[in-house]
Amino acid sequence: MKVTSRIPGFYKMSVEERKDKLNDLFDLTVEDQAILFGNNSLPEGIADKMIENVIGTFSLPLGLGLNFLIDGKDYIIPMAVEEPSIVASASYIAKIVRETGGFKTEASERIMIGQIQVIGCPDFEMAKEKVLQEKEMLINAANDAYPSLLKRGGGAVDLDVRIINEGQSKFSQMLIIHIYVNTCDAMGANIINTMAESLAPVVEHLTAGKVYLRILSNYADRCLAKATCKIPPHLLESPGFSGDEVVDGIVYAYEFAASDPYRAVTHNKGIMNGIDPVIIATGNDWRAVEAGAHAYAARNGQYSSMTTWSKDKQGNLVGELELPMSLGIVGGASRVHPMAKLAYKILGVTSAKELAKVVISVGLAQNLGALKALATDGIQKGHMALHSRSVAVAAGATGDMIDKVAQKLVEENEIRVGYAKTLLKEYVK
Ligand code: MEV
Repeated sequence: MKVTSRIPGFYKMSVEERKDKLNDLFDLTVEDQAILFGNNSLPEGIADKMIENVIGTFSLPLGLGLNFLIDGKDYIIPMAVEEPSIVASASYIAKIVRETGGFKTEASERIMIGQIQVIGCPDFEMAKEKVLQEKEMLINAANDAYPSLLKRGGGAVDLDVRIINEGQSKFSQMLIIHIYVNTCDAMGANIINTMAESLAPVVEHLTAGKVYLRILSNYADRCLAKATCKIPPHLLESPGFSGDEVVDGIVYAYEFAASDPYRAVTHNKGIMNGIDPVIIATGNDWRAVEAGAHAYAARNGQYSSMTTWSKDKQGNLVGELELPMSLGIVGGASRVHPMAKLAYKILGVTSAKELAKVVISVGLAQNLGALKALATDGIQKGHMALHSRSVAVAAGATGDMIDKVAQKLVEENEIRVGYAKTLLKEYVK
């Protein structure tokens, strides 16, 4: 179904009106509606099958990132997150970027890595040779352990071996085997772990060593996604700042993060502000993506910015974000959690690669939103404007009264529930 991600005034609607709008856009089934309009997005019976010792469920707000145009396709992006401003900022930047043709993306093959640790080989060089000589046999054995993956067009495709800490102590010297697996549309943790475990006996036989760890690596540097955008300065103008000044401010902010780990961590946290909510909404493992993303940000030896921002010869702002994206659209919580299932319907992605391209674009948008604010007014002004609406609601405001009270709170620089209650009393007299 072709949807537009431009829904003007969506933020002004009530939650019920937004749900109705979504219902119209996506022609939701009765089951979808029950999830969306009911108050039980994760029934306890399902939660109890997902983890152990369940005593209930824990909800987060689910918002929609709007205006995203990615490789010529519109995406409405479900985002589950507790922090105000994130969804608004991503949608605001996506609106700017769509005016220049949207985000452009690329994704590598989806190759995930399994690691096998072998210790105590009598001769490490010979053990390495033996494993390499039997590479084809080991790849075939890995595929035999997970035949359904081959049927889906994936499977183990390669293998390599390293000796680490050669000649050092008994505990530190080891042989590390990497098995490379195309996991298709799955994140692949179970596939990889099954394969790695299945190879252990034959690896011990070949190396005369002992296998200890057999596990997926979350450093998924062969499963990458990249997003870029190019924005002419006039689209970045903000009150009191010319477009050129904003471009320069963003490039200075990037250079700061590129050179200083203290800043890079916060800069990158802002990127993950966009990435994690989509990963959570689609039932994926956000810890895996977080771990891989931060390791990738340190791949050149110093922890640095995940994004790059520069100014081209025409003065346009050019941004790029590339990260490992170990995501799946099959398996795990993605197809069990009722809200995640609905999230896929809204998102309309048909492959893990496509989901990775969407997620990486949101990360780039989120970073630009933060840097634009930081390089101009600072982030508190926008935060406070949004926070004032929550304060107005907390004071009991409904309908048009929310914006009226919120606006006054900001004007008076008194964003307090007590003051909002006073205003409300005055307005409804
Ligand atoms: C806050 O959640 C995220 C920011 O600190 C990111 C940044 O500083 O770039 C605003």
